[in-house]
Amino acid sequence: MDFIPSPPTITEWSAKARIGGRTVGFVPTMGALHEGHLDLVHRAKALCDHVVCSIFVNPLQFNNAEDLRHYPRQMEQDRALLAEAGCDALFAPEKEAIFAQFTPTTYDLGGLDGFWEGPSRPGHFQGVVNVVERLFHFVRPDHAFFGEKDRQQLTIIRHVGRDQLWPERIVPCPTVRAADGLALSSRNARLSLEERKQATVLHRALLHAATSAFRNSVEETSKAALETLSTVPEVRLDHFGIADVDTLEPLTAWGKRTEAVALVAAFVGPVRLIDNITLRR
Ligand code: PAJ
Repeated sequence: MDFIPSPPTITEWSAKARIGGRTVGFVPTMGALHEGHLDLVHRAKALCDHVVCSIFVNPLQFNNAEDLRHYPRQMEQDRALLAEAGCDALFAPEKEAIFAQFTPTTYDLGGLDGFWEGPSRPGHFQGVVNVVERLFHFVRPDHAFFGEKDRQQLTIIRHVGRDQLWPERIVPCPTVRAADGLALSSRNARLSLEERKQATVLHRALLHAATSAFRNSVEETSKAALETLSTVPEVRLDHFGIADVDTLEPLTAWGKRTEAVALVAAFVGPVRLIDNITLRR
């Protein structure tokens, strides 16, 4: 696997890789890789001729200096995991290189940051979109892979992608979970053993919503999930809600839908975790 810290070098690498109509798949990450990230790499490998993964802890998307400071960093381990997964290149730029001659843009997010994670994390999605644009600009991929774990991020990137006419195809990938249901996340590493156990209530609540959905009202379904969450009082709820699967707008009735999504965010110990599940009729 090639290790490439320099933006111009990854652009050259990608141009060479695309000779003869071959395709480049791209998996952007912030590192501290786990099986969720590696699943994205495997999916990219299955669909594309070459795979680039990036590791860049993007300061623009953290609205809390503590969270940025504590974000796990483990480049050597990540490098070994990616090589083992068959990734062809690791793009690991320095902050200065990514943001050289760069002024952040305010993107039209179509109001998609008006709910769920948006109000809790002001500026977060603008920070994500700005860095994704930078990364796309340097890597020039044909396909880019994003996890459904970060459902609102995925929805916003698809939306901006349509506006910006980014050439890339955005490929959504299902959430990878631990055996006990907890969605894998780099932030899980900061949970104590006890907190790690408490955190599993998030997925139990989402499953509860999935079994209630479309058989009971939206309100009753939310109530069922909230009841499950309240069984572990150490888990401090930020938000729970049910939304339209495409626009993520909060729902009060199922209407004619056959699908919806339940989203949750909660603090467990010092860590804020998010998860979601697709609800099907
Ligand atoms: P990060 O949190 O490192 O996640 C990188 C990618 O892995 C994202 O697309 C995320 O949705 C996906 N992912 C994380 N956990 C997953 C899981 N359990 N199952 C499946 N996919 C999972 O998301 C970011 O970084 C950043 O915001 C980024 C897009 C890199 C921009 O800085």
